[in-house]
Amino acid sequence: MMNEKISGLLKFPVLALLVLTSFISFSQDISKDAAVIKAGEDLFNGNCKSCHRVKQKLVGPALAGVYDRAPSLDWIKNWVRNSSKVIAGGDKYANALYTEYNKSQMTAFTSYKDDQIMSILAYIKAEADKPDAPAAGPQVAGGGAGSGQAIPSGYLDAILGGMIIILVLMVIILGLITTALKKYLNDKQLSEEDSEVVNNPYTLATFTRSAGFIFLVIFVVSAIAFKTVIDGLYSIGVQQGYQPKQPIAFSHKLHAGAYEINCKYCHTGAMKGKQANIPSPNICMNCHSQIKQESPEIQKIYAAIGYDVKTASYSGKQKPIEWVRIHNLPDLAYFNHSQHVNVGGIECQTCHGPIEEMEQVKQYSLLTMGWCIDCHRKTNVNNEGNAYYDKLVEVHEASKGKGTKMKVEDIGGLECSKCHY
Ligand code: HEC
Ligand code: HEC
Ligand code: HEC
Ligand code: HEC
Ligand code: HEC
Ligand code: HEC
Repeated sequence: MMNEKISGLLKFPVLALLVLTSFISFSQDISKDAAVIKAGEDLFNGNCKSCHRVKQKLVGPALAGVYDRAPSLDWIKNWVRNSSKVIAGGDKYANALYTEYNKSQMTAFTSYKDDQIMSILAYIKAEADKPDAPAAGPQVAGGGAGSGQAIPSGYLDAILGGMIIILVLMVIILGLITTALKKYLNDKQLSEEDSEVVNNPYTLATFTRSAGFIFLVIFVVSAIAFKTVIDGLYSIGVQQGYQPKQPIAFSHKLHAGAYEINCKYCHTGAMKGKQANIPSPNICMNCHSQIKQESPEIQKIYAAIGYDVKTASYSGKQKPIEWVRIHNLPDLAYFNHSQHVNVGGIECQTCHGPIEEMEQVKQYSLLTMGWCIDCHRKTNVNNEGNAYYDKLVEVHEASKGKGTKMKVEDIGGLECSKCHY
């Protein structure tokens, strides 16, 4: 009788303890080791960041706390390796999540080992436990970009203009002072010598009429005219700086800058083919079916694909978004993105400039033949770990000496037919 009571009394705390330890052990399995966290950070940045943030919803949910809310750590492992299998298996949590995120499919990371997934969780947990720093939102990035840098050229122009005005004023004032002084001195009785100095025949008028001065003026004017004409001729067809207004106020500064969305997430062709491609509205919808639904700019995307936010349905009526093309080589020239980005290992920014800082894209480089050739003369071929080049490197070193780098011109990058059809 007594025993039963005691055991009954004991049951509750034991149960409570069990429940508690199960919770604690759950996230206790997650490592706090700095090396593991670093490994997780690299994996996360490389593979998850295009869709997830730790503390913010993007394409997928904010991942802070998944280790507490998901059914189990094993569930997370299975999910990351193949989410559609988990969903198809009828798992309740998975299906609810999938529906909540408009059935957008997460990439499968089938080859991930347990410890890789655990390292990502370690990173997520370490980030989540950090106190809130001012979020890496657009405001911060916006403020950071311009500050502490060189004076904008607009200011320089204003300063220059101001200085010229001051100089002209000084010349006028000095002129007035000399005439006044001359008049004053001439009113006095001056000696012959002094009078000659005061009434020096070399006045401004005699100077401007001199042959030397006239020659100088004609020379300067014709030199400026000549340079303008030549510059004009050279820039025919060159559109450096071209920055048209786009039909939707899409900002690279926000997407590629503040939110660090990878260029290739949208410009899917850059690694694979000739064209980098402008993303289709589907790619925008990966995020914007959720994000900023109320924005008039985002509603232009919905209009283009005939999407109704309220019912989340498609009307079938579509009209393409008419993005204005900025970079455009004439038809006679052949340029291939994957050759440069994938094989050559060249960053987008080398040719397109700091796109991730541009509110509106502009053409950064000249895109003339001279520009292409110049880079082909200067740039080394990226032959590390590319068996295709082994033979060529051998031949090159045999003729030019061991250790000399192979430039693009050495593999035929200056041949007319490589760039012209
Ligand atoms: C292409 C976008 C995309 C990528 C890349 C991606 N995810 Fe996801 N993830 C999602 C979406 C969307 C969901 C929400 C469920 C759904 O719709 O499938 C999700 C859900 C999850 C969940 C469950 C979250 C919860 O609240 O329970 C985890 C965990 C997760 N992702 C981890 C990862 C990890 C780790 C990586 C990188 C290795 C990764 N994801 C890469 C899109 C992505
Ligand atoms: C979220 C999707 C997205 C991301 C990420 C993105 N872009 Fe874009 N990009 C676009 C869209 C949409 C356009 C067309 C509208 C415009 O010009 O702003 C465009 C236009 C461009 C153009 C001009 C194309 C033309 O008409 O000649 C270049 C160059 C470019 N992007 C480079 C980049 C680079 C480099 C990055 C990475 C730093 C990047 N983009 C990241 C969506 C994206
Ligand atoms: C990976 C996710 C993602 C993708 C893909 C994406 N966006 Fe965004 N976009 C965002 C986020 C996040 C914001 C900022 C929302 C905020 O300010 O709260 C945003 C903001 C915008 C805004 C500003 C809206 C406003 O009124 O403030 C426009 C316009 C926009 N996106 C257009 C596009 C277009 C067009 C595409 C496709 C080419 C695209 N986005 C693709 C995540 C994305
Ligand atoms: C070696 C220089 C170079 C590099 C590197 C480069 N581009 Fe380009 N890009 C060009 C040229 C040149 C054009 C014009 C092509 C044409 O008119 O055929 C162009 C055009 C574009 C366009 C317009 C449409 C299209 O598909 O051609 C986009 C978008 C673009 N680039 C994005 C990117 C992105 C994203 C990267 C990095 C992944 C990148 N570029 C890397 C030189 C470059
Ligand atoms: C930033 C430097 C850079 C610029 C600018 C550049 N290229 Fe290249 N280009 C390279 C590199 C590096 C390679 C070698 C890639 C490889 O390993 O195959 C290359 C290779 C090529 C090839 C293949 C050559 C061959 O023999 O296989 C062609 C064609 C080409 N570029 C065309 C162009 C054109 C057209 C332009 C101008 C619109 C241009 N490139 C601008 C760096 C550049
Ligand atoms: C690395 C690539 C490349 C190589 C090699 C190259 N070109 Fe070009 N060429 C171009 C590009 C790009 C343009 C377009 C430039 C523009 O629109 O300003 C062009 C334009 C031209 C034009 C038209 C002139 C004009 O201003 O519109 C001629 C003619 C021409 N090239 C001849 C040649 C000849 C001849 C050779 C061989 C000796 C050669 N090119 C080699 C890239 C190349």
